[in-house]
Amino acid sequence: MNRNNIAENPISQSKLPIERRRVEFTLDDVTEKYYYRGNPQVSAFFASLSVGFPPGEAEFIKSVKLFEDQITDPKLREEVKNFAHQEAHHSFQHKLLNQKLNELGYQTGGIDNVFKEKLARREKQWSPQRRLARTVSAEHITATWAHWALGSEEKMQHFPTSMRHLLQWHAIEEIEHKSVAFDVYQQCVGDRRLLNWVYRHFLYFEFPLSLTLTTRALLKQDNYKPTAEDRRVFKDFLFAKKDGMVSSLWPHYRAFTKQGFHPWALDDSGLVDDWKGTLSPYFAH
Ligand SMILES: [Fe+2]
Ligand SMILES: [Fe+2]
Repeated sequence: MNRNNIAENPISQSKLPIERRRVEFTLDDVTEKYYYRGNPQVSAFFASLSVGFPPGEAEFIKSVKLFEDQITDPKLREEVKNFAHQEAHHSFQHKLLNQKLNELGYQTGGIDNVFKEKLARREKQWSPQRRLARTVSAEHITATWAHWALGSEEKMQHFPTSMRHLLQWHAIEEIEHKSVAFDVYQQCVGDRRLLNWVYRHFLYFEFPLSLTLTTRALLKQDNYKPTAEDRRVFKDFLFAKKDGMVSSLWPHYRAFTKQGFHPWALDDSGLVDDWKGTLSPYFAH
């Protein structure tokens, strides 16, 4: 793939159809508060990610739709609609998961409110261009995480099956639509300096800080003191050289600010094809 051509050609460069699916996960097997290997830290970390999805994804949709009228490429316009459909359904499914997590003892209401207030403030204070740049940034992090979720079975196998499949379905769709916000930005804004600045702020500051604070807040509800083994599992989960969620894909997180970058420079369409078959029993088209 010629990355320079992609950067110069400001229309849809998607590699996969962005499918509209309906899914159903019972979540009957999510029965423990510390559902991931009995580990409170990994479990709270994913609970806080899940709480962040519904407000976050609502903002992704809004910020892309702000530019809908300026999109000249009919393929990209159609993709925006399918992207919005997918993100809305992710939110719906994560709300069901969050409800389940609340039943298991996580009190997520306060965190949800903080997210919503922060986004409402930004809606008033930030320019549409900056909001779209943040969405493009978050979509790259999400798509990179999605690549990890589909390629790291050893780590993923410890989630309860239905929750693992929910996360992997979400991952498939994040990869399918990973270039939509980017292509909209390229066509309608095109300011790479702004984009790189917003991305660096998101990657090194906003995202890790927000996740650390929300994970800590959830753990504090139990007056939790981590054991050495808890710490080891959590550290391995994030930073194992071979398949850590952060460390193993660090070059892909960083690739974003390189000249000529496009989300499909990492072609993971094969991963999606492999997983679609496994998860198809959950899909009701
Ligand atoms: Fe999503
Ligand atoms: Fe997304």
